[in-house]
Amino acid sequence: MKTKNIFLSLLAGSLVFTINAQTPKLTLDLTKPGANVSPMLYGLMTEEINHSYDGGLYAELIRNRIFKDNPAKPDGWSLIQEDTNTSKASMKIIAGQDNVPFDERRNAITGALQSCLRLTVEKAGSRVGIANEGYWGIPVKPNTSYKASFYLKGSASIQPFRRPGSQQPAQPAAPVIEDNTAGPITVTIESNDGKTVYASGTVNLVKSTFWKKYELTLTTAANVKPTADARFVISTNRVGLYYFNLVSLFPPTYKNRTNGNRPDLMQMMVDMKPKFLRFPGGNFLEGPLLTDAFPWKQTLGALENRPGHKGSWGYRPSDGLGLLEFLLWCEDIGGEAVLGVYAGYSLNGDHVDAGPLLQPYVDDALDEIEYVMGDVKTYWGAKRAADGHPAPFKLTYVEVGNEDWFDRSGSYDGRFVQFREAIAKKYPQLICISTIADAQYPDLMVKSGKKPAVLDEHYYRNSWAMWENASQYDKYDRKGPKIFVGEWATREGAPTTNMNAALGDAAWMTGMERNSDLIIMSCYAPLFVNVNTATSTAPKAWQWDSDLIGYNSLNSYGSPSYYVQKLFGSNLGNKIIPMTAENIPTQPRPLTRRDSTDGITTPPQVPTVFYSATKDLKTGIIYLKLVNTTGRQQPVEINLKGIGKVLPEATMIVIKGDKPEDTNTITEPEKIMPVTLKVKGIAATFTRPLDPYSVTLLQLQASK
Ligand code: AHR
Repeated sequence: MKTKNIFLSLLAGSLVFTINAQTPKLTLDLTKPGANVSPMLYGLMTEEINHSYDGGLYAELIRNRIFKDNPAKPDGWSLIQEDTNTSKASMKIIAGQDNVPFDERRNAITGALQSCLRLTVEKAGSRVGIANEGYWGIPVKPNTSYKASFYLKGSASIQPFRRPGSQQPAQPAAPVIEDNTAGPITVTIESNDGKTVYASGTVNLVKSTFWKKYELTLTTAANVKPTADARFVISTNRVGLYYFNLVSLFPPTYKNRTNGNRPDLMQMMVDMKPKFLRFPGGNFLEGPLLTDAFPWKQTLGALENRPGHKGSWGYRPSDGLGLLEFLLWCEDIGGEAVLGVYAGYSLNGDHVDAGPLLQPYVDDALDEIEYVMGDVKTYWGAKRAADGHPAPFKLTYVEVGNEDWFDRSGSYDGRFVQFREAIAKKYPQLICISTIADAQYPDLMVKSGKKPAVLDEHYYRNSWAMWENASQYDKYDRKGPKIFVGEWATREGAPTTNMNAALGDAAWMTGMERNSDLIIMSCYAPLFVNVNTATSTAPKAWQWDSDLIGYNSLNSYGSPSYYVQKLFGSNLGNKIIPMTAENIPTQPRPLTRRDSTDGITTPPQVPTVFYSATKDLKTGIIYLKLVNTTGRQQPVEINLKGIGKVLPEATMIVIKGDKPEDTNTITEPEKIMPVTLKVKGIAATFTRPLDPYSVTLLQLQASK
């Protein structure tokens, strides 16, 4: 996504405004250096929600590649039978489970790959095969090479077999089908109606009773029109039984990483200049039950050893994007890991008490930290090296759990302290983050021992609440713990946010930025959403409304909130400039149900103009951010107290909408985009009109 660069300097610079008594006046005090801006103020938060990885960032195109999504039927797969008069075929999941007849169980490849798909071809007068629909379509792009791979073996029909001495009833006799499977197997990316083949190739299936991995590259032609109306097909014209497992199709990935990520989504994150990535959740860290936490150990190494797991958002993550991939993601975006470790509390409300029963969880977290940052001579550091990354990753913060305020038992105090002590003993340099914050849940706060160094606060609000609370951090105790705003968003618009949400976000961010001596880190959530709605074969892709970056399998786009994040992240100094404000206009906030419970009957007045300023001491650039939440143009007087001289021309970037509901979508991705202008008339005191419903950045340059 590109920023529109429109240089309308003359026009924008020549506008003159009458200042009246009501004109808001902002004074930037440049006479003394302000506090430091936290160098990690803006980062990203991620988890497997809304098909963020499978069907999202993780570039794998095959849905249900190891046939474990649904033990009853091969979700995502369909049978191809070109001519039902001349061919007869069926397909079936063969699950490595006790309820499967013994004869059909002997098809595991590894402990992770115990289920497979069997294609039975009884008559093969025309093409028969299996098709994968991908994550709401296989994306076809011109001149593109796709790496396909799969495990395959062929056989004749199974003859009933009874384990010696088994009491199991005899199996019904299977139809007798000869094994004619050896020979060419055709692999295609084709339109869903099968009429257009975009890319094709063959592999030669060898006669063997053992599994074998087949690999090939499929390349599309230069004249192919991009489409997501496509499927991946493996087909034959010979009878026999065909067994498939770990079927994979990768398009080009970011930095050509094997098992890597989508380039477009990676680039959008890189453009935000994030300083960290909080992972693996969110609820995804915890899982529904105590047995469902993010299983980091089984997300390492070869895909053949990754069984996937239950997940927290109604679908089964493949864990193709596992712990190492999270860490490489950090590396690729130039940020460090903020690692959430599972702390013995799950989403159903169960917890493990502090003490000996919790110790295995603590040990698991210590192993995980060792994998991330341990020397190659350590057990887990050596594993990381064996996985291809000998260099330790940078780690400063470890978050103990996620949203443990939901655990009303009060057990977090003991659990947090047990984790903190064990982590401090082995890694004194690490800082542990508590997921319970004083401001939000004072009664549940960790009270044993010293106060937690950092508290994670989460805020999901509408824009009114964001505007009303944008200055909440102005009042926080500077002697208390530092604050990590580990999840926050203005929730308006679906699946991605609208302009009003972006105005809520921007106002909120000015508050965090002005207080970034206290707010050491912050990250918006959720980051990603696959925007596909339900089809006849696949459910709606997302579980959570109001997300930052939307996509289908072919394209992606940024919400207005994304552009605000990008604007704030890439225009940040290293010193906070203290500001004072006069005549800030207000508007009445509509009363809520909560107000009536609290006995509030007069609508509270909420500001309509928000501001923050930082300075880069190296370049001398002042970044002034201004937000106008109303539909009126709003002049603002700016006083640069103590600036000396300032260049008369400044760069200005504006994000705005015609109305609060305006938004970007997958079909209209660039309705709201930042516009860059040059403006004149900058002086020690000047006035700028703020456009209706706008976020404005001014880059002011002091001169000698
Ligand atoms: O961001 C969506 C969810 O909101 C997260 O998984 C959870 O931590 C929070 O409740």
